[in-house]
Amino acid sequence: MANDSSPSNGNSAADNTLQAICYSRGSLRLLDQRKLPLESVYLDIKDSADGWFAIKEMVVRGAPAIAISAALSLAVEVFNLQAFKGPPDEAVSFLDSKLDYLVSSRPTAVNLSDAATKLKEVIGSVAKTASEARIIFERYIEAAEIMLKEDFASNKAIGSHGASFIKLHMKSSGKISMLTHCNTGSLATAGYGTALGVIRALHFQGSLERAYCTETRPFNQGSRLTAYELVHDNIPATLIADSAAAALMNSGKVDAVVVGADRVAANGDTANKIGTYSLALCAKHHDIPFYVAAPLTSVDLSLPSGREIIIEERSAKELLNTRGGLGEQVAASGISVWNPAFDVTPADLISGIVTEEGVITKNGSDTFDIKAFVDKATSR
Ligand code: MRU
Repeated sequence: MANDSSPSNGNSAADNTLQAICYSRGSLRLLDQRKLPLESVYLDIKDSADGWFAIKEMVVRGAPAIAISAALSLAVEVFNLQAFKGPPDEAVSFLDSKLDYLVSSRPTAVNLSDAATKLKEVIGSVAKTASEARIIFERYIEAAEIMLKEDFASNKAIGSHGASFIKLHMKSSGKISMLTHCNTGSLATAGYGTALGVIRALHFQGSLERAYCTETRPFNQGSRLTAYELVHDNIPATLIADSAAAALMNSGKVDAVVVGADRVAANGDTANKIGTYSLALCAKHHDIPFYVAAPLTSVDLSLPSGREIIIEERSAKELLNTRGGLGEQVAASGISVWNPAFDVTPADLISGIVTEEGVITKNGSDTFDIKAFVDKATSR
């Protein structure tokens, strides 16, 4: 896996400083987010094994970016496959097994397994008529490429729906100050972002007073990545320690909280970066609206509640050492560590779920009916 400080793959964006995924057919480069904001280095991803490593080691992270990078790493692999001599059904099992392998990289974000399921459906339906393996590989590549485009479009829609809804439901008419957690921006997606997309939209509409972002220990996605994006876009912003959130809310400086999601269960319980649940409890106590912003690919209707969501536990080094485990030791030797990467916020602490199809709000019985919303949105 080679590294190179500037992507030269002809992607149109004049300024791709915040571009986590640089893709053109046959070539995938991922911005090494472990090194941001001090260094901007792209890693060349040659195949699904490189893709798996980049996801596991958080070179790329954020639920949508994980799914898209996985799909494209296999697209690059099959595009550069010299000569695949096997019949179409062997091409199908080749792709299916690689997708299963990629899904094993990180368990909590549903977008990855959702993408694998959808790609398998495409492969399966093409295989019914395909006379050669090459045809299946080409259709796979096209389907993976569509995911990149669709994610960017859905983030723009999330930003716009979220900004209008929050402005409509604000107690005060003035500019709005938002608090967010982790990184849910361009770096966590195909571009623009989900929760950070809502903050971007408020800013570009001239309705944002200030964005507050938490440090997001132990991997510091807030202080390293979200602060990097906010400064890059000249959005008025302030970084706080995770433990300062309650005091900030108590100071009256926060009008609303918006966070991302890794998996939203059918009842609205939401898994997101560790610390989200604490923020939701604080927001409830201070009567501050708490929004989740996520594409429908983050919804898992197969889970009735958040109890069934698998929570990834990551290396103790992330707490024992600085820089998310890559720096010098700071903690006392010999101490045991518990390092869950995510937690689950129960639906009763969530005011609304902002999606690309609009905002999911609670019905008369103060619960979310996400299945009804998804059925209506997908039947349009
Ligand atoms: O461990 P990470 O950095 O992948 O966690 C990311 C988050 O929790 C995000 O909030 C979530 O994936 C949504 S990203 C649009």
